[in-house]
Amino acid sequence: MKILGIVGSCRKLGNTEILVKEALMAAQEQGAEVDIVRWTNYDIFPCEGDAVCMFLDKDCKHKDRDGHDYLLNMMYEFDGVVLGAPCYILEVEAVIKQFIDRLFILSSRPSKMVGKPAAIIVPYATRGWTSYAFLQPTIVLHFLGMHVIDKQLIHIQAMSETAGDPLAREKARRIGKEVADAVRTGDHSYKGDPGICPVCHERNIRIMSDNQTVECGICAIRGRLSIVDGKIRAEFPQEQLKWHRFAPESLYRHSTYEIKPSKDYFIRKWPALKQQRGIYKEFLDIDRGAKEAR
Ligand SMILES: Cc1cc2nc3c(=O)[nH]c(=O)nc-3n(C[C@H](O)[C@H](O)[C@H](O)COP(=O)(O)O)c2cc1C
Repeated sequence: MKILGIVGSCRKLGNTEILVKEALMAAQEQGAEVDIVRWTNYDIFPCEGDAVCMFLDKDCKHKDRDGHDYLLNMMYEFDGVVLGAPCYILEVEAVIKQFIDRLFILSSRPSKMVGKPAAIIVPYATRGWTSYAFLQPTIVLHFLGMHVIDKQLIHIQAMSETAGDPLAREKARRIGKEVADAVRTGDHSYKGDPGICPVCHERNIRIMSDNQTVECGICAIRGRLSIVDGKIRAEFPQEQLKWHRFAPESLYRHSTYEIKPSKDYFIRKWPALKQQRGIYKEFLDIDRGAKEAR
């Protein structure tokens, strides 16, 4: 049983690193072999949107130039993951989103994390400033096909303060034990705050333009709101659950019927578009000086 701790924070021995290490110590006590990696130590270049991975089944042009492929393959060696990232301006540190955008590659090289358990730890400092803290961590793990079994926001004020906070450390240890248990037993039931969406357990509900339907912005399942005993209730029909955005069938449908056919459309339109876009080439040089500025 191998469990990987991922740290999405630059701070050495910062709160995220300490909490993920606590989780790994607890997992190790359960018999897991553990390791840790700091994603911010690696370059992850932006996806350039050429879509060669999706349309032409080719490797990304950055494959051997940055750390994305290395980090993804490192993950594939493990049976479970503890992902930690600090809350930064309502979301988490940007490295998580950088990693997600390069996951287009999964359309031609399927994820090897499907069905494996994971949990999320987000240290934060200010109550009320965490609205989207779980958004990117949830997306990355679901996109990889993993089962998220718990997520914890851990309140902490000062740099490295978790080292002296038994409650925070205990929360992290519980996460580590849960992931180890989930790997060992195969029971991937969700242990965190149930939230509103029954799939991702988030509370990021969108009200659609008919002002009747609600949608989970992450999973894209749709349902209805009602008020029962003064409490807001969101109900999602059972058949919606199996078609959530990140279910293998949905991802297959998305790439096979929505994205891949657009290749033929692009090819057909390209000669005309190439000509039409010419006038924008002449108007202002957007890339001037970019190399020097870097
Ligand atoms: C640039 C920056 C933005 C932050 N934004 C938030 C925020 O929006 N909400 C919050 O609760 N804490 C915020 N914090 C506090 C961090 O989440 C907190 O200090 C955390 O413990 C950092 O973890 P680390 O030591 O692993 O980097 C921010 C910190 C920094 C440096």
